Amino acid sequence: MEKRVVIDTDPGVDDALALLLAFRSPELQVEAITTVNGNVPLEQATKNAALLLDLVDPQPRPILARGSARPLRKGPITAQSVHGSDGLGELNRFKNPDGSPRYPHPQLPQNLPNATEVLLDLVRRYPDELSLITLGPLTNLAEALLADRKRMKRLQEVVIMGGAVGVPGNITPGAEFNIFVDPHAAQHVFQSGLPIKLVPLNVTEKVCLAPMQIEKLAQAMDKPLGKFLCDATSKAMEHMKQVRRMAAIPLHDPVALGVAIDPSIVKTTPLYIHVETQGDITEGMTLADLRPIRDDLKKPPNMHVALEVDAEQFLGFFQDRLCPRLW
Ligand code: BDR
Ligand code: CA
Repeated sequence: MEKRVVIDTDPGVDDALALLLAFRSPELQVEAITTVNGNVPLEQATKNAALLLDLVDPQPRPILARGSARPLRKGPITAQSVHGSDGLGELNRFKNPDGSPRYPHPQLPQNLPNATEVLLDLVRRYPDELSLITLGPLTNLAEALLADRKRMKRLQEVVIMGGAVGVPGNITPGAEFNIFVDPHAAQHVFQSGLPIKLVPLNVTEKVCLAPMQIEKLAQAMDKPLGKFLCDATSKAMEHMKQVRRMAAIPLHDPVALGVAIDPSIVKTTPLYIHVETQGDITEGMTLADLRPIRDDLKKPPNMHVALEVDAEQFLGFFQDRLCPRLW
């Protein structure tokens, strides 16, 4: 049976790859894509999600809903230095032979539905059946919980890409980007009692795609999607080389998406995690209670955290979904 999911996202290069994976996975019935401020401002994130929908044309087409433009209490922060000013590696650089844009701007209807309303409505229609996969800051989910916590508790599962548990962050020394952008929302979600599976940097940093793998995949994929894969990832690849001296891009969001499809990709540990919302230097840090003391002396775990990953298994799965003919 297909798993009904909503994907909450801030596309983002790796978000785009996660969406491709979702649309190529028969195990998932994607009911809605909800967008949020994160890698790029909300309007751009929403345009990018629409562009992806136009490119893949999934049937049936999921609802596209516009979410929060700002974190709960802070000003918005973006990651355009990593993902490009458009979030997808500056796609307007690319032209068709006749000079027209290879990626025309999608037309967004003015009256797109609101993400919180769509989430609440889908949980009402599919109680204990719907899963939410979050690939960006947790603002939309926190707002839905604030609007109707009782209803949102009927989510079957929440898979969250975010956090860094006892390992370095990626936006500050201590914090991972999605949590840092809206730490108040993350803390609210983490303390909500929802059934959370956290997919942090501990595992996502271990699953990377190198230029050779991208090229091989792209050549074997349907032409427009193969081109998109190369076009969208080249700037992020350059960024990784400049900033991290690394010739590969981490597949943060695709790994989280993969875990929602096949949990055996990771090994999880039940942990209690608190988000630091006050600290000057530690804002957005995901602090796990790893003290080696008796369990009854600690707060009970509030989520399952992926701490180990089978990177080979995931990469095989990812490549197989994007291009079944190749392997
Ligand atoms: C997360 O931050 C974003 O830049 C990526 O899309 C991913 O969701 C990784 O820290
Ligand atoms: Ca993301």
